[in-house]
Amino acid sequence: MTVMNCNTDAIAPVAAESSSLQQRYQALLAGQDETSGLWLEEQLARAANLPDDLPDTPSTLPAWSATLAASVAAAYAEYLKQRRQGAPRRFFANRAHALWFLQQVAPTKAVDGAWLHGTLRHWRDPRYHGLIRTYLEELGNGDPRCNHVLIYQRLLGRLGCMEAMPLNDTRYLQGTLQLALGQHCDAFLPEVIGYNLGYEQPPLHLLITTYELAELGIDGQYFQLHVTIDNAASGHAQLSLQALRQLSPEHDKQAFYARVRCGYRLNNLGIAAPDLIRQFDLQAELFAALERKRVYGEFMHADLCRLQQRTINQWLAAPGAMPAFVAALQAQGWVRRGQDPAQSRWWTLIEGPAAAMFGVFNSYEKQLWHDWIADTWQPVVRRVAPGSWGLPETGAETPASMATEPPATLIERMAGNRHATPDGLLATRAYRRTTGLLHEEPR
Ligand SMILES: [Fe+2]
Ligand SMILES: [Fe+2]
Repeated sequence: MTVMNCNTDAIAPVAAESSSLQQRYQALLAGQDETSGLWLEEQLARAANLPDDLPDTPSTLPAWSATLAASVAAAYAEYLKQRRQGAPRRFFANRAHALWFLQQVAPTKAVDGAWLHGTLRHWRDPRYHGLIRTYLEELGNGDPRCNHVLIYQRLLGRLGCMEAMPLNDTRYLQGTLQLALGQHCDAFLPEVIGYNLGYEQPPLHLLITTYELAELGIDGQYFQLHVTIDNAASGHAQLSLQALRQLSPEHDKQAFYARVRCGYRLNNLGIAAPDLIRQFDLQAELFAALERKRVYGEFMHADLCRLQQRTINQWLAAPGAMPAFVAALQAQGWVRRGQDPAQSRWWTLIEGPAAAMFGVFNSYEKQLWHDWIADTWQPVVRRVAPGSWGLPETGAETPASMATEPPATLIERMAGNRHATPDGLLATRAYRRTTGLLHEEPR
């Protein structure tokens, strides 16, 4: 268990204060939550009251999925048309906004695919092979370059967003649901199928996010990859329909489908991505970040540093004084809003290897400063192509000893996000060999 904790801690984003959902999330990651089945029942009862857009009979699901894909494509074409005509970005006002969003959804992304973990045990049953393939693809088939959890982790690392930012407890809801479903696959099979059905239909917000991240110079490989891998023609969306068809029992199809629907609705618990994105408030985030940092800087400044007759240490000593401190920086001419931040004396103090306050603010906090100072001034950002930060080929092979381990041992190592550790990646490759589920490449 200790080793598991070490591994999971390396990947799971840890927020500053613990609370119920976050605690459950961490307990599930460590395989230590005994009440998750009951909790899942409660969440399903909540979800049962929500509306959904599914058809009343499962036989019309392929048409439903095709219609959905077509309407997403049409809405995206309309979005692109508006952008070409000069409309502003729909989601992210600036880079800080995008970095904020990427951190808000990190607990979900850190367990991408987890709801399907329990299907691995059914490798002898071909009806499960579509779901198992989906799970293995989430894991990049054991290749660190393609493992979704690692791709997201590398993205946050490059952007300097690995430091724990306190998140609202509800940010842990979807990740917790995914881990719980993954641990109770057999008792909640229809719900797992339904959740998967909802999660694997590529939504419009995924396309817009991918487009706007690239525009802000952020490599959206993680998002781009889901546009392709989840496609409705042959990707995970298609496999999700196939799994429902194959695993639906002959008797009582309707009762099974009713439970699938409930599982589908679990996707709608919590806040939808576009609504979450709209919650961002640049100035409030800047002040909150400064307030968090304030306590660390309180005694670090020489008393010669003064701003409007008060020493910096005096400014930092008072809780809630950050808005006034920032206003003083402005009044003193250290910050010139609405201009290139490079023109502000304050910016030159915090940015660059020779800056007097080098290292005080992390990348995200500097981006908050940058975008708040820039305000309506627009920097020129070069669009990046998704995937431009890929890892080099590793050529890592599965050690012979692991290839002979029983699937049950390997499956345990592929849980939660343990699969993204070197040991989990090895286990994933070994599982594909041992079970014969290795996908042959065209030659
Ligand atoms: Fe994924
Ligand atoms: Fe997927």
